[in-house]
Amino acid sequence: MNRPHVIINCAMSADGKIALPARKQLRISCDEDIERMYQLRNKCDAVLVGINTILSDDPKLTVKEKHVKQPCQPIRVILDADCKTPKDALAVNQLAQTMIFTGKKCNKEFGKNVDVIKCKIDENGLIVLRDLLEILHKRGVKTLMVEGGGTVIWGFLKQGLVDDLFVYVAPMIIGGKITPTLADGEGINGIDELINLEIVDIQSLGPGFLVHYRMVK
Ligand SMILES: NC(=O)c1ccc[n+]([C@@H]2O[C@H](COP(=O)([O-])OP(=O)(O)OC[C@H]3O[C@@H](n4cnc5c(N)ncnc54)[C@H](OP(=O)(O)O)[C@@H]3O)[C@@H](O)[C@H]2O)c1
Repeated sequence: MNRPHVIINCAMSADGKIALPARKQLRISCDEDIERMYQLRNKCDAVLVGINTILSDDPKLTVKEKHVKQPCQPIRVILDADCKTPKDALAVNQLAQTMIFTGKKCNKEFGKNVDVIKCKIDENGLIVLRDLLEILHKRGVKTLMVEGGGTVIWGFLKQGLVDDLFVYVAPMIIGGKITPTLADGEGINGIDELINLEIVDIQSLGPGFLVHYRMVK
């Protein structure tokens, strides 16, 4: 299968949470991690999130000039089977190209920088990630940064479609049974389904630390 190199990047608390229990964003990354995240985004051809992240956080998904001089804006990719992306979402603004992958015909009119692509969906109504990656590869995307949320990260990990995983671990506890975590989805059923990682590097970063994992395939 021809696919881009897939990098997951995420910031979590010491208890593995990536947002508030009400699914709202909170700042987990330190200044140093934010700087690193923008540098990484700038090096990737595309950056991907799920529709829930768009609806809860309304991220721009661009590279700020404050962090990178003459930024190379990655293509923004949104997984959105039901075409719920609001027309005024910041991730479809004019600052970069956007590709919205849906499972049905979408009648919304976005700007010229937005490409709505109808893609195959699986039995759970989710975009088929292998097809998505092949389409991205055909369009010249060599490196894809997956930023979340937990459902999307789970999907990539579960299907073995990840090469590198960067996790910033902040010295904080968020708690809450229903709080989004690094990998949500349905989880594994038994030890034979474990998703194994190897640690490539650990470094301290600001008050927390950054772990670089690779998937064991
Ligand atoms: N700390 C961090 O680094 C970080 C980064 C990003 C997000 N977040 C947090 O993550 C939370 C959102 O995470 P979430 O798990 O609720 O949602 P999500 O992962 O952002 O989006 C999941 C949705 O994407 C759509 N989707 C389509 N195809 C998919 C596929 N193949 N695999 C997975 N999803 C697919 C589905 O909705 P449809 O069926 O409608 O298409 C699915 O429900 C927010 O609270 C946000 O703040 C944290």
